[in-house]
Amino acid sequence: MTAHPVYAFDAYGTLFDVHAAVGRHRAEIGPQADRLSEIWRAKQLEYTWVRTHMGAYRDFRALTAEALDFAAARCGGITPPARSALLDAYERLDAYADVKPALAALKTAGVKTAILSNGTPAMLESAMEAAGIAGLIDACLSVDALRAFKAVPAVYELVTRRFGCLPGEVSFQSSNRWDIAGAVKFGFDGVWINRTGQPDEYADLAPSRVLPGLAGLLPASV
Ligand code: LAC
Repeated sequence: MTAHPVYAFDAYGTLFDVHAAVGRHRAEIGPQADRLSEIWRAKQLEYTWVRTHMGAYRDFRALTAEALDFAAARCGGITPPARSALLDAYERLDAYADVKPALAALKTAGVKTAILSNGTPAMLESAMEAAGIAGLIDACLSVDALRAFKAVPAVYELVTRRFGCLPGEVSFQSSNRWDIAGAVKFGFDGVWINRTGQPDEYADLAPSRVLPGLAGLLPASV
């Protein structure tokens, strides 16, 4: 039995590929597609941090659309149909291939699983359904209930409140290094899923493990 009764996962970038939307509509967007996707994601996250600082919450779906409009303007514009297609695709992003096997292994090991995400409950429901993983997730926890985004401590507390456990009993997986920093600050055991080979940062708030993907998440002894 693993030392962690609860495994909580970030959603976007960790379970779901945020670049899958642009990937599906690359031809309509043209040569700036990859740049647009990078700017879209960076702005989306910036808006979550700034709006949380300001106390001026707007939900993740709204910020995702605003960030796309900024990214498109920086990259020469996109047509209204392409804009609609990208936002629709964002509701049903591809899950990474290692997600379903990892979640299934955790359920076999008898631990609780959760998503903890900036996404709205509706976005997360849609993404879980599209990925076929809804049955493998015990709790889908959205920051929307708090009207504040990661990395405020109250967000991570959603997990300990939901499961009635201590922070140290939670293994938290995220591909976003800043999210791992927030989770470690709160007291979670952070596992950085470094899918894209990023350099380390936030040295004082280190993950306990770094993995290139979700395979190998469970120790062999489990
Ligand atoms: C989330 C963002 C951080 O899913 O990707 O919470």
